[in-house]
Amino acid sequence: MLDREHELHERHGITFRITGIATRRLGWIADPNGLNPDVCVGRTLLSDKSRESDQKPATVHAWLKAARADVLFEATSLNVENGQPAVDHIRAALEYGAHAITANKGPIVHAYRELRDLAAARGKCFLFESTVMDGVPIFCLFHELPAIHLQGFHGILNSTTNVILSEMENGLSFDESLKKAQALGIAETDATHDIDAWDAAVKTAALITVLMDIPIRLEEINREGIRSLSGEAVRAAEKEGRPYKLICRANKTEKGITASVRPEQIPLTDPMAQIAGTSSYIYFETDIFPGLAITEENPGLYATAYGMLADFVRTVKASS
Ligand SMILES: NC(=O)c1ccc[n+]([C@@H]2O[C@H](COP(=O)([O-])OP(=O)(O)OC[C@H]3O[C@@H](n4cnc5c(N)ncnc54)[C@H](OP(=O)(O)O)[C@@H]3O)[C@@H](O)[C@H]2O)c1
Repeated sequence: MLDREHELHERHGITFRITGIATRRLGWIADPNGLNPDVCVGRTLLSDKSRESDQKPATVHAWLKAARADVLFEATSLNVENGQPAVDHIRAALEYGAHAITANKGPIVHAYRELRDLAAARGKCFLFESTVMDGVPIFCLFHELPAIHLQGFHGILNSTTNVILSEMENGLSFDESLKKAQALGIAETDATHDIDAWDAAVKTAALITVLMDIPIRLEEINREGIRSLSGEAVRAAEKEGRPYKLICRANKTEKGITASVRPEQIPLTDPMAQIAGTSSYIYFETDIFPGLAITEENPGLYATAYGMLADFVRTVKASS
């Protein structure tokens, strides 16, 4: 997405310089004069020996300062337990005086209110459109729907399990389907987060937390993955016209909120029955629009990065 620099300038008057990059293995690299984008996308990073002798900042705080950061893009791995280290990174950025953009759902589930309030207090943006449906503007959509009441939602939000179920319908076993999803680069080497429905549960919690303004703990979501489904059961369900899908649900009740993520058999009359492979779907129930649905069909590899780029443009526009 960095190659769209020219377009960002032409269409939005935005120019940018990459002044810091950090990963667990590389440590904190900063240069306020700008880093080579080739380095940033990893083409020459490991062979760039000269950098190893550079004095590197030792902490996220020192790194933000050394990079003179205006915007932080946080994309560390999901930690379902406590959202770290992403929560600390985002907090540090906002405290330093930079805007924060993340694709990581952990901070939304574990620290949304704190980070939202900190951003507001510092006059900075905290945006996270890539956390659910790879950057499809869901959170933005609700920004454009003031004073609306969201009663509930349901959908299919995890691609890996959807691909596995589609492959099982085509005749593969669970293990073969998982291997195929891994070979296609859709599933992680450790796909536990997806198969045991943690990823879908975290997305459900993020939507409830932000769109309904009800903080919910992951333990409060009735969660069941697809591990126990046999190929026979999946194929029989499809034959019967009620295929299995991993469905996320949330509903406001008089007592609060009920939420679940589990495999359900879906009638063919429901649009969710047609959501196959890497596609996703969400259906919102609101007081004004009783049913408002979005389908994301076969997103490409750039969708998540695009969501972060779009958040960047929103951030620059909001602050200029
Ligand atoms: N991939 C997708 O399509 C997608 C879609 C939506 C949302 N997301 C979210 O986006 C985030 C990134 O996804 P990904 O697939 O790129 O994850 P990933 O393959 O696990 O990569 C995570 C990156 O974060 C770095 N990292 C992990 N822990 C760190 C730490 N403690 N300190 C500093 N750096 C650390 C890793 O550095 P090293 O490589 O040096 O270890 C790596 O560069 C995740 O939160 C994910 O849930 C991803």
